Amino acid sequence: MSALFSPFQLKDVTLRNRIAVPPMCQYSASDGLANDWHLAHYTGLARGGAGLVIVEATAVSPEGRITPACLGLWNDAQGAELARIAAAIKAAGAVPGIQIGHAGRKASANRPWEGDDHIPAGDARAWDTLSPSASAFGANLPRVPKEMTLADIARVTGDFATAARRAREAGFEWLELHFAHGYLAQSFFSAHANQRTDGYGGEHAGRARFLLETLAAVRGEWPENLPLTARFGVIEYDGRDEETLADSIQLVREFRAGGLDLLNVSVNFCTPAAQVPWGPAFLAPIAARVKRETDLPVASSWGIERASDAERVVAEGQMDLVMIGRALLANPHYPYALAKKLGMARPSWVLPAPYAHWLERYRLEAD
Ligand SMILES: Cc1cc2nc3c(=O)[nH]c(=O)nc-3n(C[C@H](O)[C@H](O)[C@H](O)COP(=O)(O)O)c2cc1C
Repeated sequence: MSALFSPFQLKDVTLRNRIAVPPMCQYSASDGLANDWHLAHYTGLARGGAGLVIVEATAVSPEGRITPACLGLWNDAQGAELARIAAAIKAAGAVPGIQIGHAGRKASANRPWEGDDHIPAGDARAWDTLSPSASAFGANLPRVPKEMTLADIARVTGDFATAARRAREAGFEWLELHFAHGYLAQSFFSAHANQRTDGYGGEHAGRARFLLETLAAVRGEWPENLPLTARFGVIEYDGRDEETLADSIQLVREFRAGGLDLLNVSVNFCTPAAQVPWGPAFLAPIAARVKRETDLPVASSWGIERASDAERVVAEGQMDLVMIGRALLANPHYPYALAKKLGMARPSWVLPAPYAHWLERYRLEAD
């Protein structure tokens, strides 16, 4: 029996297996609205057999988009387009999830394939960015953001809660707060970005405050019976890793006390000077440590692609869910390939029945 293909229950939601599609920006929206590209893309991923499909980083406010082509959830029209996607994911047998976030000082950028850098300030497509402090990320993102006032902080916290309500109304059953990757929430927790001297900076409690208040505001809107999760970078790879991990794990315990149901363990990405040790499943031991020391279910990604790795990290209890990103862009039916690699007796049955039945005794030339 494969651990990877065993079901996973969290609150009232059951995933058909432990494979999740992590949020992956498509940079293909106008005015934050999803369109037929998104519908085709997410339907294909869900049809491919993953248990959970998380829609890409979706901005809670216009200035929270990474690029002008990112999705948004700050108005009802955007909610209506996303409802089509949630329904399509569900019809293909996966649980529909969505990541909501605010890009902070990394906002107002060009699409990755059009430079991946800040849009120049004079350009009509650019906008002013927000961050805990007026300090730039650097490298390809040199724009100095505006230091958020207390009113800005309260407004963005409220935007997260309103977006969570809209996500539920659109039919999503799994919510992921984007607290990672050097965007706004991660910036509040990181001394690389947060130099505030008021109640939202300084020691652990101050740097944690925006994230915990946002979690509480969202908890008030998101149903108790559905998974409320977050993606959070617990390590920066900046030479202070033990200190950052201890500080992060303390915050994850506070997330748990605040009603978080699962953590998607990731990397901080708050400084361009980080030395990330890229390699197959490199983050798995860190995810396992977070799970062990917080007792919270965890998911993680980054190079967990080989069938042996994906099966092992679940079987050994390092993580509850395996997020597989780029391999699924290359082949949305990658779960079927994994099932075959793992020698499952009826691998085709990881696919929906209208496909599985016809593939039961059929072997492709490439098998
Ligand atoms: C095209 C693309 C878009 C991404 N967009 C997001 C995003 O919206 N939110 C996020 O948290 N991570 C994002 N990521 C990171 C992925 O969720 C994932 O962690 C990463 O691809 C590593 O997993 P993999 O090695 O299986 O691809 C993106 C990655 C890719 C390739």
